[in-house]
Amino acid sequence: MRLVYPGAGRAALDGVSLTVAPGQAVALLGPNGSGKSTLARLCNGLLLPTDGRVTVDGMDTRDDDRVWDIRSRVGYVQQNPENQIVGTVVEEDVAFGPENLGIPPAELRTRVDDALRAVGLSGLERREPHLLSEGQKQRLAIAGALALGPGYLLLDEPFAMLDGVGRDEVRAVLEALRSRGVGLLHITHHLADVAEADRAVVLREGRVAFDGTPDDLLGSPEHAGELGIDVPPEARLTAALRGRGFDVPPGALDAEAILDALWR
Ligand SMILES: Nc1ncnc2c1ncn2[C@@H]1O[C@H](COP(=O)(O)OP(=O)(O)O)[C@@H](O)[C@H]1O
Ligand SMILES: [Mg+2]
Repeated sequence: MRLVYPGAGRAALDGVSLTVAPGQAVALLGPNGSGKSTLARLCNGLLLPTDGRVTVDGMDTRDDDRVWDIRSRVGYVQQNPENQIVGTVVEEDVAFGPENLGIPPAELRTRVDDALRAVGLSGLERREPHLLSEGQKQRLAIAGALALGPGYLLLDEPFAMLDGVGRDEVRAVLEALRSRGVGLLHITHHLADVAEADRAVVLREGRVAFDGTPDDLLGSPEHAGELGIDVPPEARLTAALRGRGFDVPPGALDAEAILDALWR
């Protein structure tokens, strides 16, 4: 698949082929401008490929009749949650997407309540979104995507605006979704998130430069370095220990975490 923005000299994405399976968590990495956000926007039909095809559960994003099916199958959480707040209170904001899909009021109520519960925002239905913390705003954005009942979620650096607490909150939500079978395409710079994914894909200048397991990526700091990813040397030890059957989690990327895993 190839994408050239109108008027652009070179393709933003070229020769990219990628499938996200239901329940699979794919971490997408790459330097600024490598095409990560472009790839996300192609996955829910916000952008259409210049060449090639993008399909969602067999539906082609070029098919005009399927636009709304696709938008409801593939939730999209942008980098800055402020950009996607549309309601004056929390519950209105979450209801906006499914309302546009024509969901009847009774079901709408259930969807909004379920989505807010899933992200831990129950009780804040009448709160004005701008009064929420950054972590709560990001979880609100995820609730808005969830209310569409998606099979997949595109997350464009959802932690970029968050502190440690906010990150842990959002991470827990993503883990719960994945265990419910939602496929995740997670754009991130955080190696801890890459380590926990099922698969890691690295983009460079619009092409797939790596597609494999997090262990293969993080276990080879030189290779990762060549791909423009700064992996701590301890990651090699973690990968080697895992390779020899030690129960060290892939996200143990410093000495303390490795020791904790071995002597717990
Ligand atoms: N709307 C746009 N119009 C023209 N070029 C764009 C647009 N959005 C992104 N680009 C270009 O496409 C390339 C990939 O951008 P993007 O997908 O945003 O990368 P990333 O998310 O990895 O930082 C960059 O060269 C960027 O300048
Ligand atoms: Mg981007």
